[in-house]
Amino acid sequence: MRAMAYDGKAEKNSRLIAAPLLRWYDRNARVLPWRVGPKERRAGRRPDPYAVWLSEIMLQQTTVATVAPRYAAFLDRWPDAKAMAAAPLDDVLGQWAGLGYYARARNLHKCAVTVAREHDGKFPDTEEALRQLPGVGAYTAAAITAIAFDRRAIVVDGNIERVVARLFAIKTPLPAAKPEIKARAETIWPAKRSGDFAQGLMDLGASICRPKSPACLLCPLTDHCAAAAAGRAEALPRKAAKKPKPQRCGAVFAMTNRKGEMLFERRAEKGLLGGMMGLPGTDWRAAQERDVFADAPAPSDWAPAGAIAHTFTHFHLTLDVYAGRAPKGFRRSAHQQWIRPEDAKLPTVFNKAVRRALGR
Ligand code: ADE
Repeated sequence: MRAMAYDGKAEKNSRLIAAPLLRWYDRNARVLPWRVGPKERRAGRRPDPYAVWLSEIMLQQTTVATVAPRYAAFLDRWPDAKAMAAAPLDDVLGQWAGLGYYARARNLHKCAVTVAREHDGKFPDTEEALRQLPGVGAYTAAAITAIAFDRRAIVVDGNIERVVARLFAIKTPLPAAKPEIKARAETIWPAKRSGDFAQGLMDLGASICRPKSPACLLCPLTDHCAAAAAGRAEALPRKAAKKPKPQRCGAVFAMTNRKGEMLFERRAEKGLLGGMMGLPGTDWRAAQERDVFADAPAPSDWAPAGAIAHTFTHFHLTLDVYAGRAPKGFRRSAHQQWIRPEDAKLPTVFNKAVRRALGR
């Protein structure tokens, strides 16, 4: 959506909403590893756009608590876009293992390469130019524009969505309400301190304007909040009923050799967990195949080690895990590798299966 004109009404709303929100943020900003806090900002410190980009990509679909230590490891290993661009994709995928949504890791690397090649390693500073980068969508472009460059850009993540839906008592259910929420956010967004405003709304959503039991009595915006006035904050935003996720099942084979290594194979580039290492096994289907052993990497005395469950975006998965020894004379194929299980960089679903196979 194109940004709307910044009119007089917005200025008034901005005084009513942005001023108390920013005052609250000045006192209550969370200390986060990727953040330049309000005090440091005032002292003239500017965030590194590369670090802001990295954190925003990592924080999509993933909690602050999970991202914090992993973010530090990424930044340590690749301190700027040129460093990440110079790394093989496999290293980036390996460093990402366990964070899920692996297309993000491929795009992360692709974006670093683009920034290194086409922008001399420096992130562009407009929403429009940022949008051209691989893996950078409307949200991420706005977040980098606001947080890294302190330019006015309307940032709407899940927390901000909830805060705005309540402020304006928007009754349309999500996701249909998204355009309305963005249009309303536009009317309160200040021209100055855009990045602090975005992060202030995020922090307010995380600590006060929580999904359940919002602490309206402590909220700096409560006097201007239509949902609070009606005593209905907790009921908003409404959400359209989600379709239940289908159940799929399959089997995986944990085959070990005499050195204590396990056989892993690289998954196809395209598709779920694309390009990541995994255990050999069956396809994941609605119904179990009759002869799962036809998909074993070799005939062996396969012993059932139990099952594991994992939930992906679009389905629940149950995997039967079988453990066995490599038969004499077994030769791995080109896409297979022997790796000590503790050294394998695996998506969470396979980590669960390996632990089950090892009886841990
Ligand atoms: N979630 C997404 N981006 C964030 C940020 N910059 N600060 C806190 N939480 C976030």
